[in-house]
Amino acid sequence: MKHSKNDESLEARISPLAKKTIVLGISGGIAAYKACDIASRLRQAGANVHAVMTQSAKEFITPLTLQTMTRNPVHCEQFDTAAEWKPEHIELAAKADLILVAPATANIIGKLAQGICDDLLTTIILASKARIMIAPAMNPRMLEHPATQRNLNVLENIYRYSIIPPEVGEVACGDWGAGKMAQVETIVAEVTAELVSGRSLAGRQIIITGGGTREPIDPVRFIGNRSSGKMGVAMADAAYSRGADVTLISTVEVDRPYPVVHVETAFEMQEAVESEFDNCDALVMTAAVADFRPMAVSAQKIKKTESEDIVLELTKNPDILDLLGRVKKPTQVIIGFAAESEELLSNAAQKLHRKNLDVIVGNDITVPDIGFGSDENAVVILSADGGKENLPRMPKRAIAEHLCDLLSERFMEMEEAPVAK
Ligand code: CTP
Repeated sequence: MKHSKNDESLEARISPLAKKTIVLGISGGIAAYKACDIASRLRQAGANVHAVMTQSAKEFITPLTLQTMTRNPVHCEQFDTAAEWKPEHIELAAKADLILVAPATANIIGKLAQGICDDLLTTIILASKARIMIAPAMNPRMLEHPATQRNLNVLENIYRYSIIPPEVGEVACGDWGAGKMAQVETIVAEVTAELVSGRSLAGRQIIITGGGTREPIDPVRFIGNRSSGKMGVAMADAAYSRGADVTLISTVEVDRPYPVVHVETAFEMQEAVESEFDNCDALVMTAAVADFRPMAVSAQKIKKTESEDIVLELTKNPDILDLLGRVKKPTQVIIGFAAESEELLSNAAQKLHRKNLDVIVGNDITVPDIGFGSDENAVVILSADGGKENLPRMPKRAIAEHLCDLLSERFMEMEEAPVAK
């Protein structure tokens, strides 16, 4: 029997997590008893829940309780001879849509930040490509400790795990402060939102530019720059995995499942961007566009002459962002980049306003080992509404995920308070 649209929306309301597999990791803290409630609610919302317990978790609750709540076998041992031929950590890691660790102790947070996998749960997490959510629960002084704060920062900003912040209250040992695991309702709501809106850019048309333009001098030479195009690819990959209809316009050729338009010069880039701009929801210009090009391109290779000097006359290229910032519709979002060698904040802020951008991502090119050619960067993100966020050194893909978050938020705001088209 075929399902009608109405059946589907009814199922979405009753079982929003239908067909989703969640690995629920439980580490050894008193809040472990709440994992039973979390497991039960996730299962009632339609998810297939598999509980994985650390050894210390078993001091607080029994596998049997969790088995009853999840209606699935509970996994505890890393090396289980009775298991199927395929190791459990690979099997569960592969089938999980999301892994939630609740409660997450300071110990497991530390291990995950270091990539240590000495039990089934940490091994599953390291072996999985699923979204990871962490609900810390510990004594307030342990949470405050710089080691825990650093580890949480690594998980959140470098590995892009979602941290469900602990609450302030009286913890099990009688101390008062931040450290109580978030409420079960909050955790279940966050997990549901994550799984339901994982494709938060679905249907959005997003143009991304990347690489450095090459301005020809003659048939063999060009004026170029150090841009590797990695930020553009990271941004396009991130937006694509969130369901966006991505077009990458780049000077660097890459093989991707979305359209990649290869261009060389600023003019070609301008033409390609302008031909798509009218229909797009967002433009993200990571490209390093040459500001000048040779006035004339020699048809023949320029030969060495008797003279010691040669003069190359340059003329200005169009500023693609500046032009499009002027015609941008209120429903469109434009993100620009600014690579600066001095006065990062003020230069980036000036470009944000001058080019009528929604967001600008600035980076200091004098910092060694990051930025051009590297897989990592450290940036400051300025928004037209006054927002400012400093992202420490992290993979370009992690920066791209931050930008995707910003885009989804912006689109959501537009839906809530529609702007004139
Ligand atoms: N940009 C552009 N067209 C140009 C130059 C830059 O669209 N001709 C875009 C870049 O893709 C980037 C942003 O503008 O997103 C800022 O580029 P940048 O080179 O830092 O700024 P400029 O405006 O060129 O200023 P300057 O080179 O003087 O720092």
